[in-house]
Amino acid sequence: MALRRKVLVVGSGGREHALALGLLEAESVGEVIVTPGNAGTRAAPARLAPKILRSASGSPGDIAQSEAVDLVVIGPEAPLCAGLTDELTDRGIHVFGPTRAAARLEGSKAFMKDFAVRHGIRTARHEVVTELALAEAAVRRFAEPPVVKADGLCGGKGVVVADTHTAALAAARGMLSGESFGAAGKAVVLEERVRGAELSLHALIDGERWVVLPAAQDHKRLLDGDRGPNTGGMGTYAPAPLAAPELLARAEREVFERAVHGMITEGHPFRGVLFAGLMVTPEGELVLLEFNVRFGDPETQVMLATLEGDLGEALDGAARGALAPGALRPSGEHALCVVLAAGGYPEEPRTGAPISGLEAAGTLEGVSVLHAGTALVEERVVTAGGRVLGVRARARTLELARERAYAAVERIHFEGMQYRRDIAARVFEEGAS
Ligand code: AMP
Ligand code: GLY
Repeated sequence: MALRRKVLVVGSGGREHALALGLLEAESVGEVIVTPGNAGTRAAPARLAPKILRSASGSPGDIAQSEAVDLVVIGPEAPLCAGLTDELTDRGIHVFGPTRAAARLEGSKAFMKDFAVRHGIRTARHEVVTELALAEAAVRRFAEPPVVKADGLCGGKGVVVADTHTAALAAARGMLSGESFGAAGKAVVLEERVRGAELSLHALIDGERWVVLPAAQDHKRLLDGDRGPNTGGMGTYAPAPLAAPELLARAEREVFERAVHGMITEGHPFRGVLFAGLMVTPEGELVLLEFNVRFGDPETQVMLATLEGDLGEALDGAARGALAPGALRPSGEHALCVVLAAGGYPEEPRTGAPISGLEAAGTLEGVSVLHAGTALVEERVVTAGGRVLGVRARARTLELARERAYAAVERIHFEGMQYRRDIAARVFEEGAS
């Protein structure tokens, strides 16, 4: 292939490191710049030579223009919801990511819930409350304590799954008063609690067409056995056996097709990746919990490792409104990612701890150590955020991927390191494969 794209990835987490490596593995990509990036995005691994990976600081628009990049891929939700896609497009820069108007599917939970109702996407019954004085009556209208969600973006912390009506009311009051999340809590969504197993499903969408990516399973709680506080995600695996072909086909028809057409009808065709957080109930119903307008983190780390096809072509095609149906296909491989978090995470992660064993871990077969909250201080890699690393392994079977990932984890150390030892354990307990 003659064309060798230069791609700018915006963000600094494990998702962005995984995207950068996935892009570099693509035939069509020659160079990836990550802004602001982390200690892992400063250089390409030797196996990808002579391709170039580097970090850059500055505004994404300025970097894109001065470096003459062919495509910008925006990782996190905050810049998408703030309109970075629109701003770059106005400057003539080619972008993968939804416009500000389309990003409301994540940026406003009230918008997302009403959108789902308008377009027949099954979601939990809800009420929107905007006044403190009405909160108590609204909470009491739910037979079971409702799940309480701040309308706006809260960095993944805006959802409270309360066990009593009193706790739900306290959460709603904290949000509506502006105390908990400022303006993001000015409106609150109360929603029926749904029970079941969670599934992360992503589709690349070019406005009209979509390609569904392998289903991933996240582990949101900090501790083994799904105990402890909610986090951004402590580990993932893909493909998830829970997502049988029949269930995937239903999700495609009942969630993605309706969302794509709904956004066209409403005048804001969606281009980018749409991530549906779904609950599969014991009766086999699919209930939409949330939409995200970006790749999941750490879902991306495992999804990309189980796909074949050219990621650069696929993202470029989606951004241009010309996504090829077979752009990305399941490779038949399995992947598992264990997140290593800082001491004190998620409340108050401690930073600045030196990390050892990165090279020893990265040389194991099938293993990539993906950086998230890391920084380079005097030539040493140190912790610089809550989720520090994602240790990802791929293999022919999920069992082997798990063995490889945990063998690599054993080699890494930093003070206060926390991780879950039971990523995908449920699959093996249930005897699925
Ligand atoms: P969200 O940001 O909407 O995905 O919410 C974060 C987490 O809260 C989800 O991943 C679920 O674990 C939980 N959650 C959200 N909505 C519900 C619901 N209606 N019923 C039960 N759990 C929920
Ligand atoms: N891992 C969940 C998310 O990216 O929102």
